Amino acid sequence: MAQQEDVFKKLVAHSKEYGFVFPSSEIYDGLGAVYDYGQNGVELKNNIKKYWWDSMTLLNENVVGIDSAIFMHPAIWKASGHVDAFNDPLIDNKDSKKRYRADVLIEEQMAKYEDKINKEIEKAAKRFGDTFDEQKFCETNPRVLENKTKKEELHTRFAKAMNDNNLEELRQIILDYEIVCPVSGSRNWTDVRQFNLMFSTEMGSTADGATKIYLRPETAQGIFVNFLNVQKSGRMKIPFGIAQIGKAFRNEIVARQFIFRMREFEQMEMQFFVRPGEELKWFEHWKQIRMKWHKALGLGEKKYRFHDHDKLAHYANAATDIEYEMPFGFKEVEGIHSRTDFDLCSHEKHSGKKIRYFDPELDHAYVPYVIETSIGVDRMFLSILAGSYCEDELGGGETRVVLKLPPALAPVKLAVLPLVKKDGLPEKALEIVDNLKFDFQCQYDEKDSIGKRYRRQDAIGTPYCVTVDHETLNDNCVTIRYRDTMEQERVPVVELEKIITDKVSFKNLLKQATAIR
Ligand code: GAP
Repeated sequence: MAQQEDVFKKLVAHSKEYGFVFPSSEIYDGLGAVYDYGQNGVELKNNIKKYWWDSMTLLNENVVGIDSAIFMHPAIWKASGHVDAFNDPLIDNKDSKKRYRADVLIEEQMAKYEDKINKEIEKAAKRFGDTFDEQKFCETNPRVLENKTKKEELHTRFAKAMNDNNLEELRQIILDYEIVCPVSGSRNWTDVRQFNLMFSTEMGSTADGATKIYLRPETAQGIFVNFLNVQKSGRMKIPFGIAQIGKAFRNEIVARQFIFRMREFEQMEMQFFVRPGEELKWFEHWKQIRMKWHKALGLGEKKYRFHDHDKLAHYANAATDIEYEMPFGFKEVEGIHSRTDFDLCSHEKHSGKKIRYFDPELDHAYVPYVIETSIGVDRMFLSILAGSYCEDELGGGETRVVLKLPPALAPVKLAVLPLVKKDGLPEKALEIVDNLKFDFQCQYDEKDSIGKRYRRQDAIGTPYCVTVDHETLNDNCVTIRYRDTMEQERVPVVELEKIITDKVSFKNLLKQATAIR
């Protein structure tokens, strides 16, 4: 675990050093849980968004996109339930004056039991080697069984307290399990209170009686309130989906772990409208589609898992998360929710406008049910960085830091490097860049030794480097070097476009996402 935390710290430092992510307003000492994306970060982020957008709107002829405003009528947030129920249970430690989410403190306690179990398994696996039977060990080892029981008991109590919205019970759990404040080490806790996560501001001048409006905490409501606009103008037939990418804002109480939990972040959400009664079939469908999308990136099948919700949100009749194994454990990256007809019915009620779909096959009108897929761009970004970050031993005490990014998502696809800064090599290298810059992001670099230039490109995850040498001027061939294997081969300049496009194209990545079973 300590080693993993170490990796995480290095990842944060690497992100800053190589222009991926900077703390916001850094020269003013930063702003809590707000980050800026640098020159490489924005390319990676845009590529993630393109991969998602194309997978939704190109691969599904019945999914279309919109881009709705961040500001919306405040009644929307009353209708959606966010004004009354978008709360986190918070608790303060009276000694450190630090504020925590009560549910997170309890979840961390459960994770401790899980860690203990994993440590026992690791130790035993080392001791028994090839003969180790993990399942049998977990079913019989007293320490594993004891921690499993403790975790399950806590889990049952916690899930009930959350479902019943029982704040006193949440506090009691924290006391009973002797959960201490990580800063003061004390158990001197306040009561648990609800805290609404929406940011608000005012529209119009105060003299005219300004209206209190909210910064949207999710993009989904912009889709719901445009359901009829899109359905009618696009003559959409159910089932169909509306996709959107955009900023969302939440005044998170516990904002830490870098870009995992931010106060300003970006979501990629898709609402899929279906016939009532068919929602669970479509829920299963989208669960599988979304998991394939993640796995196609090649970061490792075992890095992902589903986690079904214990406490369903006020609008859902089924919900699961796709979790990714971050350096700090398995964490939610995407939520898939069966939201029933809650949102559309509620908007009907609050707006006084009918939001119905006339189904020609059934010959009657109904309020559609909704399956939602909702993924955070920034969390996806973090999972990709974490999954790609490697420190390779090169022998002779030498190491390299390399981001083994999925090639289609890499900020720069090709670096073109003249071996020396003279003899016409820079001109030839620039000619190659000029030809290929229409196809993908290329970078020209002539400073420092070739070795140093390779390391710089490894550190930002560039899948290909080509070196232009004196021979290139005679044979029009270059040495191409592959990031992951560091192998090199001589190839004709005219073949570069094909070699690189094959690996970095979104087309091949999208094909992969549909091919995975
Ligand atoms: N419309 C449903 C919805 O917003 P959610 O589970 O609250 O559901 C969906 O959020 C996704 O948005 C999460 O899986 C996560 O990836 C991302 N997300 C939520 N809060 C976030 C935050 N504070 N910082 C970064 N990403 C966040």
